Amino acid sequence: MSVINVGIIGFGTVGVGTFEVLTKNREIITNRVGMDVIVKKIADLDIKTDRGVEVHHSLFTKDAMDVIDDPDIDIIVELIGGTTKAKEYILKAIERGKNVVTANKALLAECGKEIFEAAERYGSGLAFEASVGAGIPIIGALKGGLSANRIQTILGILNGTSNFILTKMAKEGLFYSQAVQDAVNLGFAEDPPTLDVDGTDAAHKLAVLLSINFGTTAPFEDIYREGIDSLTPDDIRFARELGYSVKLLAIARMLDDRIEARVHPAMIPKNHILANVNSEYNAIYIDGDFVGPNLYYGLGAGKSSTGSAVVADIMNMSRQIRVGLKGSAPPLGHIHPPDKEIMIQPMEELITSYYLKVTALDRPGVLSMISGILGENHIGISSVIQKGRQINGSVPIVMLTHEARESDVQKAVLLLNNLDILTGKTVTIRVEE
Ligand code: HSE
Repeated sequence: MSVINVGIIGFGTVGVGTFEVLTKNREIITNRVGMDVIVKKIADLDIKTDRGVEVHHSLFTKDAMDVIDDPDIDIIVELIGGTTKAKEYILKAIERGKNVVTANKALLAECGKEIFEAAERYGSGLAFEASVGAGIPIIGALKGGLSANRIQTILGILNGTSNFILTKMAKEGLFYSQAVQDAVNLGFAEDPPTLDVDGTDAAHKLAVLLSINFGTTAPFEDIYREGIDSLTPDDIRFARELGYSVKLLAIARMLDDRIEARVHPAMIPKNHILANVNSEYNAIYIDGDFVGPNLYYGLGAGKSSTGSAVVADIMNMSRQIRVGLKGSAPPLGHIHPPDKEIMIQPMEELITSYYLKVTALDRPGVLSMISGILGENHIGISSVIQKGRQINGSVPIVMLTHEARESDVQKAVLLLNNLDILTGKTVTIRVEE
């Protein structure tokens, strides 16, 4: 039986996970693919540290080009991450006609156009199932089972670290910084986990999903991003009392001539299916015009789950190589991609309802001043509660608004924050019904 040779660039957590899946499940992989799939070379700057897997020392090299230039290697797996060296290596591999598998959502979201075009020009296969939701086969679903549909809505919990932190805050009443520390201690989060908690990682993943849906790259910079670092356990508790959970959501909605694309903390009704996705789990809810709602759930991070997705891509490519169809499908799955760009609606034009928490001096007339400012800015209040005990004469006033325009809400918040009766910054959380 002939062999598919794989070269791995980057032997960190996901590299090790990929190696483990390929070696431990070698027999079933061989049976399913019809060829033996083996790792021929591994490049990493650190070839000394014991990663807890048995790898023959002869496989290692410090130079990624040894892998890319090896004529016997059919599939290059890029797992170093980032947008500099990874981009250089992927482009070099593509130029040499190699098939490439990557988990690099940052690169695909920020430099996708160049990478996708290069793959098509050189007829190289490019696959990236592991870039979104780790082992959740969402890219395969969009390109395969859902591909006959116009996708109308994507709602995703796409970052395991921030979901873990929010779950800790909700269930244990921890402050944000304590929950982050727990995530770091358990190995979920980088220290500091900036791209996870500020919404960038989820926005990268949303951009990749949008690219597949539309067959053209999404303008990443136009995706609104807001993180979870200013949320307090009080906000999460108040939200719960109002019947909601707080999640970092990636949201895309298809409008007539443009789309909504945004990542921010959002309140979702407690009985919404995504409200019960906890800890490091991810979930993606997709609504298609014919298929209706679909939900995908699973571990969105980690070596085994991500390794599983990387190996699935390697197996699909191996099957194509076996029948001589290398690089036959465009990476985004559209044979005739549209010639117009994806237009993302400016955030100021969003219309939704809001949770507002205003911390103000507990004096007569305060509520009417606040509601006056909201009313002048076309914001109607659907419920208001003065919560909790006075602390130094201040109380939190929690409100839910009717649907309002984002620009009006931002303007009202600025005016509120300038009032001298306010003793803290106003907190806003968008509500996703
Ligand atoms: N850091 C990501 C997360 C996993 O926490 O979900 C890799 O995409």
